[in-house]
Amino acid sequence: MSFWTFVGEIFRANKTTGALAPSSPALADCITDLAPLKDAKVIVEFGPGTGVFTEYIQKKKQPDAYFLAMEINPVFAKATKERCPDVHVIQDSAENTLKYLKEAGYDSCDVIISGLPWTRFEDELQDKLLNATYECLRDKGKFLTFAYFFSPWVPSGKKFLKHKLPQKFNNKYSRSPIIFKNFPPCHVYICEK
Ligand SMILES: C[S@@+](CC[C@H](N)C(=O)[O-])C[C@H]1O[C@@H](n2cnc3c(N)ncnc32)[C@H](O)[C@@H]1O
Repeated sequence: MSFWTFVGEIFRANKTTGALAPSSPALADCITDLAPLKDAKVIVEFGPGTGVFTEYIQKKKQPDAYFLAMEINPVFAKATKERCPDVHVIQDSAENTLKYLKEAGYDSCDVIISGLPWTRFEDELQDKLLNATYECLRDKGKFLTFAYFFSPWVPSGKKFLKHKLPQKFNNKYSRSPIIFKNFPPCHVYICEK
């Protein structure tokens, strides 16, 4: 069911979905292991899609940690809510995360895990989303995202992964080894504010 929801949205909302398939359980396990979820009091997910990462975050976080998921696509927001009913899923752009954190009584978050298709976005949207990401994180907060292994060779990917991301995080960033158990294989990028 989740898989076919995703495939439908690849065709209907290609620009924002930006993936060839939902992420694999192996990638979900890896990105949530690399995130300091055990110590996090406030966690945000960008672009949960059908809720693959959401389920892992929910399982690994502390029971009392606040967890907000921002999903722009109503079909995906509904799918994530159905899969993870205890998560606060907001159907809006990740750009507006701080507003929802403040409404819930928080000024910032400890961790952001992103499923956004950064390299598919126009420059201006990338910048807005990256600024919003940085603004939401507390000092020393962690931002994790993934990109397909070939992305650094594609012009938009190269600009984002090799220039914008390191610049925004003052070069405090690292990349995981390649994760082969995902289609296509990918790396996780871990940045610290
Ligand atoms: C590549 S899919 C990833 C879905 C899921 N995290 C996974 O890994 O299978 C990208 C997701 O980001 C969502 N998205 C795109 N732009 C967004 C935005 N500005 N704010 C929030 N979600 C967005 C899409 O609707 C889609 O669900």
